Amino acid sequence: MKILKLMERGAKILGSQYAILGGAMTWISESNLVSSMANAGIFGVLASGAMDGNILKNEIESTQKKTQKKFGVNIILMNPKLHDLIEVCGEKKISHLVLAGGIPDKAIIEKIHSYGMQAITFAPAQSIAKRLFKHGIDALILEGSEAGGHVGPVSTMILVQDILLNMVGYPIFIAGGILRGEIIASMMQLGAVGCQLGTVFACCKESTAHENFKNVLLKANGRNAVTPVQLDKKFPISPVRAIANIATEEFIAKQREILTRFENGEVALDNGRLSLEHFWAGSLRRAVCEGDVDHGSLMSGQIVEIVKEERYINDIVATILREAEDFLTKA
Ligand SMILES: Cc1cc2nc3c(=O)[nH]c(=O)nc-3n(C[C@H](O)[C@H](O)[C@H](O)COP(=O)(O)O)c2cc1C
Repeated sequence: MKILKLMERGAKILGSQYAILGGAMTWISESNLVSSMANAGIFGVLASGAMDGNILKNEIESTQKKTQKKFGVNIILMNPKLHDLIEVCGEKKISHLVLAGGIPDKAIIEKIHSYGMQAITFAPAQSIAKRLFKHGIDALILEGSEAGGHVGPVSTMILVQDILLNMVGYPIFIAGGILRGEIIASMMQLGAVGCQLGTVFACCKESTAHENFKNVLLKANGRNAVTPVQLDKKFPISPVRAIANIATEEFIAKQREILTRFENGEVALDNGRLSLEHFWAGSLRRAVCEGDVDHGSLMSGQIVEIVKEERYINDIVATILREAEDFLTKA
């Protein structure tokens, strides 16, 4: 198959059958989903979110019981237990760590390498991408703002033209708004070694996300997957793409309240910022695990526009490969 030929390099980098990553999703990418991804031939990534070393160790062990295949672990660089988490992954012989929530420094990359693991991370600009490769990063993911969850300001299309096309030959995966095989094949013809998908797997049959959560995503359109409005730059908001719900409205009201109290001298800048940060604490868990789709965070990418059915991972992967192959054969 032509698509498998195109995927050869990326698959070799990941140690999986296909050059497709099942992107880590906090509370969703747990042992069932990740082992199912691995068994379907793609590279699943466990989300460690705010876990400590012990919880992560249990999750890795439980994934390893369900698959003999390789899978990765996603680590958030701000996690205060960062070093413990890296050590646990090293001891458990994880092959790849996907670092998120910041730009890893050289020392972290070296620490990961010292355990024989590979380090992958996200790059939001060409200069950062080049610096990361200089610091020894093994592969990069360019994730555009169409993606679900925490996003940067720039779309996949711009990152591809700014970074991928200027850095052909480097091991670069593309994420954000990607699902169909034709697009995956095209990205690879442009020089990508593979793609990372998230939202579609949050909604798949093997995902243990609450059915209320999945149903909202499956019924949503691309325009419903929004990043929150920031009312005032003194109170910066981190862009997180999610389906708009009651919590989105309440967050705007909360910003308005804090802003008024700040202007009236009733709340200090730092305290106001902190209380906005706390607004979303625990909210993804509320939606994904408890099914509270009104007050939880419904993180999701714009790709919900074309994710309309709860499907098995094998079926999703087979469709991608078929679409990619048809596209490459016709071209
Ligand atoms: C519900 C949800 C939670 C996510 N959590 C994380 C996370 O914990 N760490 C991370 O690196 N990326 C996270 N992401 C991003 C995904 O790993 C992936 O890169 C993204 O979903 C790809 O774009 P797509 O949604 O358009 O497929 C999350 C995405 C979603 C939808």
